Amino acid sequence: MATNWTPDSWRAKPISQVPEYPDAAHVAAVESQLAKYPPLVFAGEARNLRAQLAKVAEGKGFLLQGGDCAESFAEFSANTIRDTFRVMLQMAVVLTYGAALPVVKVGRMAGQFAKPRSAPSETIDGMELPSYRGDMVNGMDFTPAARIPDPERLMAVYNQSASTLNLLRAFAQGGYADLTKVHQWNLDFVEGSPPAERYRAFADRIAETLEFMQACGITPEAVPQMRETDFYTSHEALLLNYEQALTRVDSTTGRWYDCSAHMLWIGDRTRDPNGAHVDFLRGVSNPIGLKAGPSMTPDGLIELCDLLNPLNEAGRLTIIVRMGAGKVEAGLPSLIRAVEREGKKVVWSCDPMHGNTQKAGNFKTRDFKNILSEVTEFFAVHRAEGTHAGGVHFEMTGADVTECIGGAQAITEAGLGDRYHTHCDPRLNANQALELAFLIAEALKHERGQTVVAPAA
Ligand code: PEP
Ligand code: CO
Repeated sequence: MATNWTPDSWRAKPISQVPEYPDAAHVAAVESQLAKYPPLVFAGEARNLRAQLAKVAEGKGFLLQGGDCAESFAEFSANTIRDTFRVMLQMAVVLTYGAALPVVKVGRMAGQFAKPRSAPSETIDGMELPSYRGDMVNGMDFTPAARIPDPERLMAVYNQSASTLNLLRAFAQGGYADLTKVHQWNLDFVEGSPPAERYRAFADRIAETLEFMQACGITPEAVPQMRETDFYTSHEALLLNYEQALTRVDSTTGRWYDCSAHMLWIGDRTRDPNGAHVDFLRGVSNPIGLKAGPSMTPDGLIELCDLLNPLNEAGRLTIIVRMGAGKVEAGLPSLIRAVEREGKKVVWSCDPMHGNTQKAGNFKTRDFKNILSEVTEFFAVHRAEGTHAGGVHFEMTGADVTECIGGAQAITEAGLGDRYHTHCDPRLNANQALELAFLIAEALKHERGQTVVAPAA
């Protein structure tokens, strides 16, 4: 266990990106209430995820992490949860086939409500108000009342996360994840997608494989793995009082686990090695993520690996690289070489979202081609370095929103206003996310020396 660590030792460290609550006693009352509530996940589940990520670190798996930039109270519904879960399963099937590796599915769901901001305040028409920090902190409306941080929102987050997890568990284990159904949804996508030809050959090969398996008796009725799946949750551990309240000792191992989610990550703005966020996460035994943007240095990364994973255990640490399209070749090789030189065991994942945000009129958007380009660069660098490109991290939703431009649907800047619903950053919609999965899977398959050729007519 980490030395000199307690669940509240972060409180003595410098902290950034936290709200200033007007009523400290109210915050303390909410924290002690939450500390009495049941954990949202079991330590054993977090350990299972860690074991699966250890495989990814060894090159024997692939990580798919995705979901909202920020979950919201307004968009909370069974359909929203189902649709995002469904697209992730669809993407996972395609990626499993492309990589010929098991795909570990981790949602940015059931707890992803707090956002770090680049400025503490926002000014509109001469009025300055505190920034919106996610529904976990304050309201999005641009009024003085909405922007006051309210600790009761921590309770609302706990409750919404509990309901979300409950439904995700039901979907994952209750028959909704049946592989033959997921494949049928993919066929529907291919038929409705403009570059249908391109994806059809790929989908046909998966269909053929499923038919072969069926003939061998590997059916959803006979084999649980064909109808059930593991689906894990994750979020950025930003509000440490919430995380502390849900941190419990696991009776099996005697170790501390943050039971608010299976996996937690540290954002690019809060990874100060002497700061509160790093201190908190070094002491919990969950698998953790660390964002690495263009300002991450090789020495800084090694220092963080030592702090966060002193025993150098595979599966503990995932480095989520978010450089921006065109910047991966400059930024990533030195990080990989440092990690290789020091023998650190990590999962390398690519977040092609956060380095590719741009303005289009009043909208924040991202261009599909930049997102694809960053992923492609990430794979190319790993190929050149001889290391495993272990995963991808997307902001996406199962809903048909218009927040990112491009893709086969050809969403334009002028069309962004049609269905722009995000509470923070622009997300890939269901079609864009799936399209990206097909393109990545093609590349993965190509890398293995196999190409999907359309059957002769
Ligand atoms: C995020 O993942 O939503 C985020 C804010 O990322 P980053 O810390 O990489 O900017
Ligand atoms: Co975001």
